[in-house]
Formats: sequence, C-alpha cells, structure tokens
Amino acid sequence: MLPEQHDILWTFVTIAFTVFSLYAFVNVLKHCRENEGVNTKLWGGLFAGFFVLNFFLTKHMFTLIQQDQMAFLPWQLAGILVLLFAWGLFFKSTDIESQSPPITRAMFFWMTVSVCLAGYTNWLPQQRSDPPPKGGAAISEDLTMEEFTEMGRIIVFGAKQVAGQKSIGKGQCPLCHTFDPGDNIGRCPNLFGVQERSETRIQEDRYKTSPVAIGEKEPATGIMKGLPMEIDEAYRRGGSEDLIGEDYLRESLMCPTCYVVEGYGKDGDTKSPMPVISKPPISLSPVELNAVIAWLQSKDTPGDFSKVTVPLPSAQSQADAAPADEGEEEERPVFVTGDEDIQAIINTLGCPLCHTIPGVEGAMGELGPKLHEKTNAPLRIKDPRYKGSATNTKEYVRESILNPSAYVVMNEAEGELFPDGLMPATFSTMLSVKALDKLVDFISQTEAPAEG
Ligand code: HEC
Ligand code: HEC
Repeated sequence: MLPEQHDILWTFVTIAFTVFSLYAFVNVLKHCRENEGVNTKLWGGLFAGFFVLNFFLTKHMFTLIQQDQMAFLPWQLAGILVLLFAWGLFFKSTDIESQSPPITRAMFFWMTVSVCLAGYTNWLPQQRSDPPPKGGAAISEDLTMEEFTEMGRIIVFGAKQVAGQKSIGKGQCPLCHTFDPGDNIGRCPNLFGVQERSETRIQEDRYKTSPVAIGEKEPATGIMKGLPMEIDEAYRRGGSEDLIGEDYLRESLMCPTCYVVEGYGKDGDTKSPMPVISKPPISLSPVELNAVIAWLQSKDTPGDFSKVTVPLPSAQSQADAAPADEGEEEERPVFVTGDEDIQAIINTLGCPLCHTIPGVEGAMGELGPKLHEKTNAPLRIKDPRYKGSATNTKEYVRESILNPSAYVVMNEAEGELFPDGLMPATFSTMLSVKALDKLVDFISQTEAPAEG
C-alpha cells in the first residue's frame, strides 16, 4: 500500500469512529434526559463545543506540512484529554453511570481508539521524512559488484526510497532525471537505456565535434574531451586508452558540456544546464562517482553486472575516499528546520541546480526561470493565464514552492513554457513552517542585479 493510501484509509476510519461516537453520544443524552432529567443543553453544548474544536484541530493538522504535525500533536492530545476529563465529570456529577453501561463502555472504547488513531496518523507522515538510516552500503574489504552498484543507487536516490515519492540522494540526479521507460518530465533526458546509449554516442559524428571537438579543452571544466587518460588522476580509470562507454558516462558527469544531448541544452545545444557532479555543490568523490557509473551501467538489467566496466574500488582508493566521506553528507536529513541560515536552506534543497538566484553564491542554474520575484511575481499574478490563489508576492512565492504546477512560467527566451513537473512538488515534506517562511521572505525580495 502506498503511504497516501494509508493516510486515506486511516482518515476514513477516524471519520467512521467520529460519526459513530456522535451517534452514541446523542443516545446517552437522550437516555439520561428520559431517566434523570439531566441538563442536556449544558452538557450537549459543552460536548458539541468539544466536537467542533476537535474538528478544527484535525482540519488544521491536515493543512500543516508533515514535520510540523509532530509539534502540533501535543495540542491535539491536550484537547482530547480535557474532553476525557469533562466526560469524567459528567458521569460522576450526575450519577448516571449505572443507567447506560453498554453505551458508556462504547464511548470509552472509542476514546481510546481515536487517541491511538490520532497518534498513528500523526506519526505516519513523520516517519516518512525521517533522515535515511546511517551507513547504507559501506565500503568493505570484500565488496561485491552488487554492493558497489547498490552504493551508487543510494547516492542517486538516498538510503530510503518510498513508493509514490520522489527520493533524492546526495547525487541529486532525480531532481532532474527520470529512470523508467516512458516517464519524461522534459528538459532532462530520461536515463533509461543510458548504458547502451553511452556506447553508441561515442561513435556519433556529433560527438566528435559538438560542442567541443575531441582533444579540445572544454573551457568551464578544463577537461579534454574524449581523452580519458587526461582526466584528473583521482577520477581517471585504469586500463586501455580507447574511448569506451564508461568514458562517456564519466564525461557526462564531470564535463556535462563536453557533449550536450540534442534538444536538452542551452544556446543551440552548446551549453549543458547539468551541474558538474564532481564539483560543489554536489561534489561526489572519485569512488562515489564510480559507484554511480557502475549503477548506471547495470540498473536496466537487475542482477546482471556483465556490462559494468568500472572496477571495484581498491583498498587504496577506499582509504583515500574515507576522510572526505566521513559522516556528514550521506546522513544529511533531507529536511531543513529553519534554524539554518538562508544560504544553507537554499543549498540543501537544491534550488541553485535549476535557478539563478541573486544573492546566493553559485546559484547559476538554468533549467528554471531566474528568480527575480520582487518584479516577476506581481506580473505573474496579473497574467490572464494565472489561475492560482495568490494575491501578493509572498503568497505567489509560497504557492510556487509548494505547488509549482499552479502556474507554469513562460520562458521568454525560448518562446515556450518552462516544463511543468520539472520542479519537484515535494518541498513541503522537506521544510518546517519556519524554514518555509524564511525561504519565502528571501525569495520574495530577489530582483535582477543592477546594471553595471
Ligand atoms: C539540474 C539538473 C540535473 C541534475 C541534478 C543532473 N542532471 Fe544529468 N543531465 C541534465 C541535463 C539537462 C542533461 C542533458 C544535457 C547534457 O547532455 O548535458 C543531462 C544529461 C545527463 C546524461 C547524458 C544522458 C544521455 O542520454 O546521453 C547523463 C548520463 C546524466 N545526465 C547523468 C546524471 C547523473 C548520474 C546525475 C546525478 C549524479 C545527474 N545527471 C544530475 C540535468 C541534470
Ligand atoms: C529540478 C529543477 C528545479 C528545482 C530543483 C527547483 N525549481 Fe523552481 N522552477 C523550476 C522550473 C522548471 C520552473 C518553471 C515552471 C513552473 O513555473 O512550474 C520553476 C519555477 C519556480 C518559481 C516561479 C518563478 C517565477 O518567476 O514565477 C519559483 C518562485 C521557484 N521555482 C522557486 C524554487 C525554489 C525556492 C526552489 C528550491 C526550494 C526551487 N524552485 C527548486 C525548476 C526547479
């Protein structure tokens, strides 16, 4: 069952119990009025008040982003405890306990169950955004190829993959790429079948000349195209000097502009919008990069590693990789609390990979619009195409982050819309309310840098 279906099921059960309790409660009151002459207005009003309160608490809970539901739980539990207390008073003060024993028991049964349910539904989403468990596929002496490719998979998707959710690991690849046949979001190639493509690409005439020719230096990264033996020693493979598929994959990651897949580049496919994976902010180490390549070479043939040409890491390279790897990144929770500074928030979420953001160093992404929201947001809201619900800049920015598809921005330079669905719709699960407020405040202030 998908987590979403879980939620729906539990919500349904909660509602069913609420309705039943209401029915039971009305019964108790009627019974008491007939037998005891209880002040039904007073008690009825009191419990109806609780019901309304609980309804709004629950409703409010559903508007909260996942991480904040946890902080809200004590309030909801407090509401329920006060209600239980009132129940106790009701029964004790009016001596009606003996009058309706079965229904009373039913009520307390419901109370217990609903408290558990409230706890469960709150805990459930929380558990989903927990940071991945430590470790994953640690490098060991007798590492097998299966474990090595698994390490690559974890770098791509993170240690914890959940059905129906976009999971993103240190490598950030799923921010842009898809991996299953037919699953396309535009602007970034689907990486299904990339192992086969890696072998044919290097045969293409287009590879030999565009945008840089074999043997030429690609200016942005300083990498000599098509010359695997010229790559920085730490990242260089051993073996023959002939160009093989593995070299294409390594070049794609270390020098995206060495070859730009047709239709996916900037400026007539002469510039790639893909970040250099071995440099900040992603900064994969040589061993990590190899693990990703090994995974790319074997992912479409589960259990079959015959196409993998990357060697298993040697004891030496493992030792080299160790200090850089230690601790940090891998266990980094995919969540920002709002106590970080704004630069850290933005970098953790990966916005700079797709957006150019004034005031954020290194944010030169080109897959999405330049974030000049102080000037852009009011224009978007006025656009007749705009169907969202924002009425001012902050609301527009908030909406863009939580629900990117509410309005799809026009790419003026290309004369077409930016691809819908490329910007992840999952940021709500990675942000606390505080972090979201901070982010919205910052992005709402962005504007084009002054000329000159
Ligand atoms: C910010 C978006 C972005 C991220 C993040 C990203 N890529 Fe890319 N990638 C692209 C774009 C755009 C292209 C197409 C242009 C080009 O060829 O460079 C591309 C091209 C590629 C290609 C060449 C595909 C082909 O059919 O020849 C490979 C392989 C690749 N990416 C792998 C990766 C891996 C592995 C990661 C994660 C470590 C990654 N990418 C992260 C945007 C991204
Ligand atoms: C994988 C690429 C990608 C990532 C990562 C990404 N975005 Fe976007 N973003 C886009 C694209 C493409 C659009 C334009 C299409 C649309 O409007 O949905 C867009 C649109 C926007 C807009 C509307 C811009 C305007 O001028 O109207 C805002 C604001 C925005 N993004 C903020 C963010 C923030 C903040 C982050 C990080 C939390 C982020 N984006 C991460 C690709 C991305």
